[in-house]
Amino acid sequence: MNKKRFYITTPIYYPSDKLHIGHAYTTVAADSIARFKKITGHDVYFLTGSDEHGQKIERSAQAKGQSPIDYVDKIVESFKHLWDKLDVEYNDFIRTTEDRHKRVVQMVIEQLYKQGDIYKSSYEGWYCTPCETFFTEYQLVEGKCPDCNREVELLQEESYFFRMSKYADRWLKYIEDNPDFIQPTSRRNEMISFVKQGLEDLCVSRTTFDWGIKVPFDPKHVVYVWVDALTNYISALGYGTEDDRLYQKYWPANVHLVGKDIVRFHTIIWPIMLMALDLPLPKKVMGHGWLLLDSGKMSKSKGNVVDPLVLIEKYGVDAIRYYLLRELPLGSDGYYSEEALAKRINVDLANDYGNLLSRTTQMIGKYQQGLLQKPQAPGDLDAELIDLAAQTPQAVEDAMEKLEISNALANIWKLVGRANKYLEETSPWVLAKDESQADRLNTVLYNVMEVIRFATVMISPFMPNIPGKVWPQLGIEEKPELHTWESLKWGQLPGGTKVHKGEVLFPRIDLTKI
Ligand code: MSP
Repeated sequence: MNKKRFYITTPIYYPSDKLHIGHAYTTVAADSIARFKKITGHDVYFLTGSDEHGQKIERSAQAKGQSPIDYVDKIVESFKHLWDKLDVEYNDFIRTTEDRHKRVVQMVIEQLYKQGDIYKSSYEGWYCTPCETFFTEYQLVEGKCPDCNREVELLQEESYFFRMSKYADRWLKYIEDNPDFIQPTSRRNEMISFVKQGLEDLCVSRTTFDWGIKVPFDPKHVVYVWVDALTNYISALGYGTEDDRLYQKYWPANVHLVGKDIVRFHTIIWPIMLMALDLPLPKKVMGHGWLLLDSGKMSKSKGNVVDPLVLIEKYGVDAIRYYLLRELPLGSDGYYSEEALAKRINVDLANDYGNLLSRTTQMIGKYQQGLLQKPQAPGDLDAELIDLAAQTPQAVEDAMEKLEISNALANIWKLVGRANKYLEETSPWVLAKDESQADRLNTVLYNVMEVIRFATVMISPFMPNIPGKVWPQLGIEEKPELHTWESLKWGQLPGGTKVHKGEVLFPRIDLTKI
C-alpha cells in the first residue's frame, strides 16, 4: 500500500538553558499530530533538534568556563531526556553542530552567492559592547540594549546580504495563491502587511563571533543563525547529499509547527530561501500561541520557569500532555496554572473518562461475572449514543486536519460525556435487579464498553500510555486489530471478553494541596 507521506517538524531549540513547559508544549503538540497521522494511515516523518550556534551560546559556555561544544553536548542530552520522559517519538534529532548539517548550510550559501543572491556590503546597527551584539532600531528598548539595558552605539560591520527584496513580489503572490500556508489567518495578515511595508535584504553573516558555520567563500565570516537554523529542515533529510532518499520522499514538509515569535522567520526568510534555491515550499507553517504565566513570560531571571520534569513526576506524563493539548487552542495564548491542570485531571480524566471505565468494569464484574455479553437490537437511547460514536472519529479527523488539537479532544470528550449520561438514563444498577431485563442490561453495558474502546483508540496519539492500561481491563490486550483507527466501526468488541476492573488511571488531585 502506498501510504500518504507526512513530514512534521518542531523548531530546533537553543541549548542555552533547560527547556520549560512552553517548549514542551510545542513538541508535545507536534508529537501528537505525528502520532495521529500515523494511526490514521500515513507514513510519517517527525523531526526535532537543537540550534546550537551563535553568540549567546558561545558566551554562556565561556561564562561556565567550558568549550561551546562541551557546553551544548550536555544541554542537548537534557533535551533528549525530556523528550523521552514526555513520550515524544521523533524519527530524527538534528543538531546544527553536526557535519551533515554544516555541509548543507555551506552548500546552500555557496549556491546563493554564485547565483548573485548574496552580496557583500556593510551592516549598520546598534551595537551593545558588553553584549557584543548588534540590534536593529526596532529591537531596542527605549533606545537601550534589550538584553542588558545599557547604552548602545551605531556601528558598521562588513557583512554578506541575501537579496530578499528581489523575491518580495513572488512571495506576496505565493501567499495569495496559497491562503492556508500561514496559520492562523491573523498571523498571515501580519506577515503580508510586514512584507508590503517593504522587504529589506537580510544580513546573513557575522564577523563579531566565531561559534558558527564558516562562510565557505570568506571564512572570517560565520553564517547568521537563522539561515543556519532554518536549513535544518532539509539538511536532516540529506538534501543535496549522495543519499537524499529521505529528502526525495518527505520534502516538502506538511507542517512546520512553530511559536508565534518565530513565524516571521519561517514564513518570510525560509520560503524566500527556498524560492531562491528553486525548491518546493512547505505546505503549512502553523504559529501557535504562548503559554503564559500570571507573572508574565516565563524566564529564568524572573525565577518563574515551570519545569515539565517536576510536573511529570507529580502528575504523570499522560495528564501533562492532555492538559497542554486540551487547555490552549493551538493558535491562541493561554495561561498556565497548576490549579487548572489539577482541575483538568479531576474533571476530564478522573471523573469523565476514568470513572466511566471503572464504573462499567465494576458493574460487569458484579452483574455478569466479568464476562462481556453481546448486545440486543438497539433502542432509541442506544441509537443516539451509537450514532455519536460512529461520527466522532470523523469529527476528530476533521479537527486534526485543521490542527485543532483541543477541539479534537473536545469531540472525544463529548462522546465520553454522552456515555456517562447514557449510564444515568439507562441505570444498569436498576436493570440488574430485574431478571426480565437481562438483555437490556447486556446491551447497555456492552454499548458503554464499546464507547470506551472508541475513546481509548482515539486518545492514543495524545496520551500514548493509556491504551496499554485500558485494553487488559476490556480483555482485548491480545487483540491489536481492535486498537486501530480502522476498527472504529460500531460493534467490533466481541462478546465473552473477560473484563476486569484495573488500577485507577487518574487518581484525583486534592486541590487544597496545590
Ligand atoms: N532556535 C530558534 C528556533 C529555530 S527553528 C529553525 C528558537 N529557539 S527557542 O528555544 O528560543 O524557542 C523554540 C520554540 O519554543 C519557539 O517556537 C518558541 O515560540 C517556543 N516557546 C518558547 N517559550 C514558549 C512559551 N512560553 N509558550 C509556548 N511556546 C514557547 O526560537
